[in-house]
Amino acid sequence: MGAPDAIHLVELGPGRGTLMADALRAARLMPAFLEAAQVHLVETSPALRERQKAALPGITPHWHDRLEDVPPGPAIILANEFLDALPISQFVRGREGWHERRVGLGPDGGLVFGVDPRPAPLGAALARRLPEPHPEGAVLEHLESGIPALLAARLAAQGGAALIIDYGPARPGLGDTLQAVRAHVYSDPLAEPGEADLTAHVDFTALARAARAAGAAAYGPLRQGDFLVRLGIVQRAERLQQNTNASQRKAITAALTRLAGMGTTDMGALFKVLCLSDPALGTPPGFAPEEAFSEPDA
Ligand SMILES: C[S@@+](CC[C@H](N)C(=O)[O-])C[C@H]1O[C@@H](n2cnc3c(N)ncnc32)[C@H](O)[C@@H]1O
Repeated sequence: MGAPDAIHLVELGPGRGTLMADALRAARLMPAFLEAAQVHLVETSPALRERQKAALPGITPHWHDRLEDVPPGPAIILANEFLDALPISQFVRGREGWHERRVGLGPDGGLVFGVDPRPAPLGAALARRLPEPHPEGAVLEHLESGIPALLAARLAAQGGAALIIDYGPARPGLGDTLQAVRAHVYSDPLAEPGEADLTAHVDFTALARAARAAGAAAYGPLRQGDFLVRLGIVQRAERLQQNTNASQRKAITAALTRLAGMGTTDMGALFKVLCLSDPALGTPPGFAPEEAFSEPDA
């Protein structure tokens, strides 16, 4: 990035602050970078802001409710399991076409899903980009948020890169992926509104497309395991295992497998990594030039 004098190090939805704490610890190898970096945390939860403060002693982060509030300037932006928490809309394939799935009140006053009988032009337009078949009853999901386009426009205009890590398929498709987890147990998304963690899979192709349209380059998505192996996670784990006892070695191997294992149910395969960047920056570390996103039919 040409070593700018000031750079924003931004995390969207930092949760407990662990990733930012780790990133800052790793960045100690580059004192000039730390000197230039100002930490910004985009977080809406007051309780989590407190956790982040505790995880980052000696740092004075700036908290924001929205990405728009982060001051202008070159930025490195991290978003791990953030986009899957943003609102989506769903469309259901009917006999004649697509309809929006909506939430209403059931006979007993509780929340229920229903289907709007009016045709949904947005659903139909989105479906045209997805591989057939589209059987009756199929569900299509769409991320409502303007954050990806905003992020991309910012990077293209002001410089920098964003690393997005989330749960989702490498290729777009149909399917209802909305889920609710409350106290580590799956629950009905409408049962206790506001009490459960609602998520949906991230459509990386739609993200990359929105980013390209806003003027940024997009690389990936890659499987998290592939990305971490390319960045040297195996060598790093081996290095950490030197001069440790058997139980520490076992713990490091377990952590490595958890993050980078690529069996069908492992995080290394289920999580994907997408990089959005200022096109002037070239290919980001961990990606290959041919992994720049382009439309298959372009
Ligand atoms: C599932 S957690 C991920 C936490 C962390 N990045 C991690 O990987 O463990 C989602 C985070 O995004 C925050 N969040 C959710 N929606 C948000 C929004 N619209 N704006 C800002 N933060 C949001 C949550 O409070 C939480 O910190």
